[in-house]
Amino acid sequence: MDDMRGRVTRDGIRIYEDADFAGMRAAGRIAALILDDVGALVQPGVTTGDLDDFIRAQVERHGAVSATIGYKGYQHASCISVNHVVCHGIPGVKKLGDGDILNIDVTVIVDGWFGDTSRMYTAGTAPIRAQRLIEVTHEGLMRGIAAVKPGNTFGDIGHAIQTFVEANRMSVVRDFCGHGLGRVFHAPPNVLHYGRAGTQAVLEEGMFFTIEPMVNLGRPETKVLADDWTAVTRDKSLSAQFEHSIGVTAIGCEIFTASPAGKFFKP
Ligand code: MF3
Ligand code: CO
Ligand code: CO
Repeated sequence: MDDMRGRVTRDGIRIYEDADFAGMRAAGRIAALILDDVGALVQPGVTTGDLDDFIRAQVERHGAVSATIGYKGYQHASCISVNHVVCHGIPGVKKLGDGDILNIDVTVIVDGWFGDTSRMYTAGTAPIRAQRLIEVTHEGLMRGIAAVKPGNTFGDIGHAIQTFVEANRMSVVRDFCGHGLGRVFHAPPNVLHYGRAGTQAVLEEGMFFTIEPMVNLGRPETKVLADDWTAVTRDKSLSAQFEHSIGVTAIGCEIFTASPAGKFFKP
């Protein structure tokens, strides 16, 4: 059976084959293109529901399937997390205001492969402290990615992110993590965005997973609202997140969800 190819490590992490990278590349590219294209719509006065409608239409236009619609009862093609919302914000009727910052998280399925990525956007002009938060969060993700190569460990990834974020006097959210993915949305391991160098499972060529640090301007604690999805900072401080889906190669990693247009975030 197709699903049984490859092997699984003692930590339960699937090792994919060379040919599988092409599937992830195709899925990741479409998710990234959608994040590229939605950027032009992000403006004060637009609702997060409008943005989700656009994303849903784009998923269809690309011949992809939304991984989030119907996932554990979730009804939308994206999560849109504004200001102090940490993740899993539900698109709706609320209009963006000038200076709002938001994360848009899209996961698509293409030929059975999952591409999961998110970026930050700003409506109008965000305050300097919010722009700094966004920059530090993006750089934290990229430092985590820079730690990915065979022989390093998942602890090395978390350590790279945490030390950079905390050196900038911001905090790493502990309550949510990255995850393995491939022909499934969420698989082992839990990819923590904090940790100690040299600890946890050893990275091997052929592992596919996300890194998706959430960083708060204030304290790291979160709580989930009564809708059972929306996670917010307990202290109401601003939060940011970026996410890439990556695959471990012989010498480092491939970022499946890199922006084809070279866009990373809208400053
Ligand atoms: N895309 C999210 C992640 O990074 C998961 C969203 S699940 C949803 O893992 F149901 F909230 F959409
Ligand atoms: Co993810
Ligand atoms: Co995601």
